[in-house]
Amino acid sequence: MSVLDVIRKRRSIRKFESRNIEQEKLDSIIEAGRLAPSASNQQSWKFVLVTDKRNLIELAHACHDQMFVAEAPAAIVVCSEDNRMMSCGQSAATIDCSIALSFMILEATDLGIGACWLGSFDPEQVKEVLDLPKTYTVVAVSPLGYPAEIPNPRPRKSVDQILIRR
Ligand SMILES: Cc1cc2nc3c(=O)[nH]c(=O)nc-3n(C[C@H](O)[C@H](O)[C@H](O)COP(=O)(O)O)c2cc1C
Repeated sequence: MSVLDVIRKRRSIRKFESRNIEQEKLDSIIEAGRLAPSASNQQSWKFVLVTDKRNLIELAHACHDQMFVAEAPAAIVVCSEDNRMMSCGQSAATIDCSIALSFMILEATDLGIGACWLGSFDPEQVKEVLDLPKTYTVVAVSPLGYPAEIPNPRPRKSVDQILIRR
């Protein structure tokens, strides 16, 4: 599939089959994140791959009881070791980790694995239940699993509404 085809195919998936994801597919998803660009090539991210069922349940509660996280066979939690601000005023951690998770979600989509970016979570609770250093910044969470639904595409604004030409 072309990159644009994968982008078109991706949906937020909130229903998953219980079967496990093959290790090679999990490895490819992590590899996509590993290869992502980062500010000054710092790569100060940590990708936490959660497959333990009890941890998935605790993670779902930390995501404000979004229990579909516990139904997935895996989840990825993207954290940063630092919280450096760039001269443009943006957080390098947020941007770097967001690019990495975007790459991982697109790779997952290409492999037939569903994902759903989650921004609704309690970061302190996530760190506690996964026994992560308190100094980490938790940027995003996504369940991973074979989709048990094929949602219709959600609406997008037209190019005219979002493109400014100068
Ligand atoms: C930063 C961010 C935070 C999000 N947080 C959540 C969330 O906590 N729970 C959820 O079910 N979906 C969450 N979503 C998914 C969005 O609702 C979804 O991307 C949007 O409705 C468009 O649908 P689509 O992803 O299927 O194209 C989030 C997406 C983004 C990019």
